[in-house]
Amino acid sequence: MNRHLGKTILTYATALFLSGCSGDKKDNLMIDTKNETINEKVNQLISKMTIEEKVGQMNQYNGFWDVTGPVPENGNAKKKYEHLRKGWVGSMLNVRGTENVKEVQRIAVEETRLGIPLIIGFDVIHGYKTLSPIPIAEAASWDLEAIEKSARIAAIEASAAGINWTFAPMVDISRDPRWGRVMEGGGEDPYLGSKIAKARVKGFQGDDLSKNNTIAACAKHFAAYGFSESGKEYNTVDIGTATLHNIVLPPFKAAVESNVKTLMNSFNELNGVPVTGSSFLQRDILKGKWNFNGFVVSDWASINELIPWGHAKDKKEAAKIAATAGSDMDMEGNVYIEELVNLVKNGTVKESILDDAVKRILTVKYELGLFDNPFRYCDPENEKKSIGNPKHHDAVLDVAKKSIVLLKNENNLLPLKRSGQKIALIGPLANDKNSPLGSWRLASDDNTAISVFEGLSKYKDNSLTFEKGIDLVEGATSFTQPLKINNTLNSSEVNKALQIAKSADVVVMVLGEHGFQSGEARSRTEIDLPGLQQELLEKVFKVNKNIVLVLNNGRPLAIEWADKNIPAIVEAWQLGTQSGNAVAQVLYGDYNPSGKLPMTFPRNIGQIPIYYNHKSTGRPNQESHVFWSHYTDSKNTPLYPFGYGLSYTTFKYSNLKIHNKKASVNDNIKVSVKVSNTGNLDGKEVVQLYIRDLFGSITRPVKELKGFELIELKKGETKTVEFSLTKKELGFYNSTGDFIVETGDFEIFIGGNSSETLKDTFYLTE
Ligand code: BGC
Repeated sequence: MNRHLGKTILTYATALFLSGCSGDKKDNLMIDTKNETINEKVNQLISKMTIEEKVGQMNQYNGFWDVTGPVPENGNAKKKYEHLRKGWVGSMLNVRGTENVKEVQRIAVEETRLGIPLIIGFDVIHGYKTLSPIPIAEAASWDLEAIEKSARIAAIEASAAGINWTFAPMVDISRDPRWGRVMEGGGEDPYLGSKIAKARVKGFQGDDLSKNNTIAACAKHFAAYGFSESGKEYNTVDIGTATLHNIVLPPFKAAVESNVKTLMNSFNELNGVPVTGSSFLQRDILKGKWNFNGFVVSDWASINELIPWGHAKDKKEAAKIAATAGSDMDMEGNVYIEELVNLVKNGTVKESILDDAVKRILTVKYELGLFDNPFRYCDPENEKKSIGNPKHHDAVLDVAKKSIVLLKNENNLLPLKRSGQKIALIGPLANDKNSPLGSWRLASDDNTAISVFEGLSKYKDNSLTFEKGIDLVEGATSFTQPLKINNTLNSSEVNKALQIAKSADVVVMVLGEHGFQSGEARSRTEIDLPGLQQELLEKVFKVNKNIVLVLNNGRPLAIEWADKNIPAIVEAWQLGTQSGNAVAQVLYGDYNPSGKLPMTFPRNIGQIPIYYNHKSTGRPNQESHVFWSHYTDSKNTPLYPFGYGLSYTTFKYSNLKIHNKKASVNDNIKVSVKVSNTGNLDGKEVVQLYIRDLFGSITRPVKELKGFELIELKKGETKTVEFSLTKKELGFYNSTGDFIVETGDFEIFIGGNSSETLKDTFYLTE
């Protein structure tokens, strides 16, 4: 078998010629009449497919051999290999690198009867090799251009490695920081989440999907995974119709409206039905109401999980339920390939269900240009040139700086003075080159992030000393293995840290979560500083109070003690490859921080779920009494609200004006506000507009984000920012899932975060 087809990109015709596979075997199925529409081509192809071949297109396998090594002779891998050669595989995931992809693609197009190319999927979540900040961090930038660019770079690198489909963006809204996967999403708000979903889809898919450097996106996990009960992974979700439509679904709808090519369903159930088997979500809403023409892939073996959920009694029933419900492709579950053919042959599942799924899958393959050239993503020269390109490092550094949120800055401790300072750098994450890469970075190399120590070392006019003080974890760490948090204090290490702290002008402490403490299957019941870090922080505080706390984490943390005691706190998340450079440039003021939290930070775990767009309750505010909606041992307010973030300069809001105080539902309601930079530095501010519909047929949240603008203001400068509101922003989904607009009183709030705002009112008439 010829396993290497040479270095140039082959056209499909050349590939056929080289393999000697043409004529009868291909059955002339590769229609090359250029003017036929994709639709016609797909229909013709489907008309020639056997039931087995159709089910094959709905079957996705995980990568099963190392192409550069021997083909395994036995077991699962052997079976998959045989299936691939028979045309029983439509897609593979986790095969990457031009050589590997070329080889599986060659088998698909040359050795199978119909020669249908594979679509090659991979989790390109925040970059391929060059890593951007984790998605929740990028969301904190509120900079849609930067977010789109970051996805574009991810697509350029991934496509150069042979990949043409990413399992991103994750658009799950979540209000629960115990859930580890909040690191992968855009936070708690459906409006911001929808804008980000759109930007990411655009970044991955570009303007033309058939280009060699654009890839199909996948909005996941459809739907409501972020509402997993008690923040526990893979759990039950029980929410009402209004919450589903107003909070959970909008980012998915935005992705569909942005022409996202695929969606992934999920591991959770929703109101008693595991979503992989939900016709309501996949047929009625997605493919019905929203008219989605792409395809739905299951989550990893989630069709099989219908059995332990207690929804299907065996694989046969699972296959029937999932296919009927609209799950078009089975990710590594082997259920479709084992069961669907017979189910169709014995009349249990209609063949039209297969035709619909296959049509969707083949259409995306055509749109990607895979039928024109199945090897279009397999150019080794481009692979060398594109992956890790220095220009990509500049771009991810840019978005990393924009993702940082300044949480506290008492007495302007930051920015650091540029010379003559003794800086002590302390903490287990301060010289960590791995954790800042975050989770979901399967194609990047370990220990390739710039650490904070490396970043700060570039500023040569201060003296810098470093001691880790403690270790955060014990032993080796990996994406697939549980972490072991270190709980053994080594007093000599601690003492070394205290020594440098004592004589320093400023102590920079880098604490937070290990890169694999958030992400899939990383739910936590405590979200404070893990391990010995709080103890270390308090010990250092006793010898030097001038501390800048830099947080590295994948979720909101409960850091009430630090907020009370530490003068400066910087939320630096996990910022990817350029992490330490971004942190250093912010600490020294080369970049004036502009990030705003996309998720509420609670004071303590007991407040969760805590989110800004909550309902009023019937007893919202009666503090002098006992019987009102509150806790007896904690405030109702969060530690840091949604939308919050400081700058090294200050902004003043004034002149909030609603131009039509009595407006009709068909009006464009103009709202404006003046924002002034009242500090001593140029800076950027995210101007946020919230509404409250005061009385509704179903109760409305106390605030809902409905507009934002990222503006730049020179020191002393004032700008007027204008927003316009239409019924799209003023309406909502009711408890039957219908979108309605109700007349009556509305409040408008504008400010730099969700709690500190100016307010005015208007009346909406018919
Ligand atoms: C995750 C998905 C991911 C898939 C493939 C699953 O465990 O839930 O988000 O895309 O694996 O890696």
